[in-house]
Amino acid sequence: MAQPDKKKIVIFASGSGSNAQRLMEYFEHHNSVRVVALFANNPKAYALKRAETFHVPAFLFNREDFYQSGKVLQQLQELNPDLIVLAGFLWLVPQNIVQAFPNKIVNIHPALLPEYGGKGMHGIHVHTAVVQAKAKESGITIHLVNEEYDKGDFVYQHRCPVHETDTPEELAARVLQLEHEHLPRVIEELALKQ
Ligand code: GRF
Repeated sequence: MAQPDKKKIVIFASGSGSNAQRLMEYFEHHNSVRVVALFANNPKAYALKRAETFHVPAFLFNREDFYQSGKVLQQLQELNPDLIVLAGFLWLVPQNIVQAFPNKIVNIHPALLPEYGGKGMHGIHVHTAVVQAKAKESGITIHLVNEEYDKGDFVYQHRCPVHETDTPEELAARVLQLEHEHLPRVIEELALKQ
């Protein structure tokens, strides 16, 4: 009997790409889901090297490709992914891409949205804000992407404590570990529903 096609995931990353790596590892030998491409907007993104290691095709693009010429949209339409995962991706996704993939783009944010989100709230800035607010808890939010930063419906949240003595870096490490632990499973569930 013919096997059904595997669900296709595309990853977008801007930097280190440790979450991208977790996804590529998790789906490397998966029966029904595969990572078909990694898109990066930064030639120095270490995520590109990680994609090479996993033999995942990498696409490097610039602002013009993303916001003006429609090149990224066209590449995505050719790949026809079931799910697009923003894993440490910092640019706002343009409307034409959001509309071309309704409810198929998800982002991971390293805090408990709706707090500590929005423009400029990325990386260590998020954890600094959480520590400065003396919040008792932080965590991760995986959410659908719409035309505004960090505003789409939540798919999954997981909490962790913030200790009184935490530096932003210590909190960042705890939250990143949570991301690595939960992101692949949540993405697997979402992909299989498509
Ligand atoms: C993660 O904390 C992710 O939530 C955020 O940016 C960080 C990226 O880390 N959006 P990495 O590039 O996956 O290592």
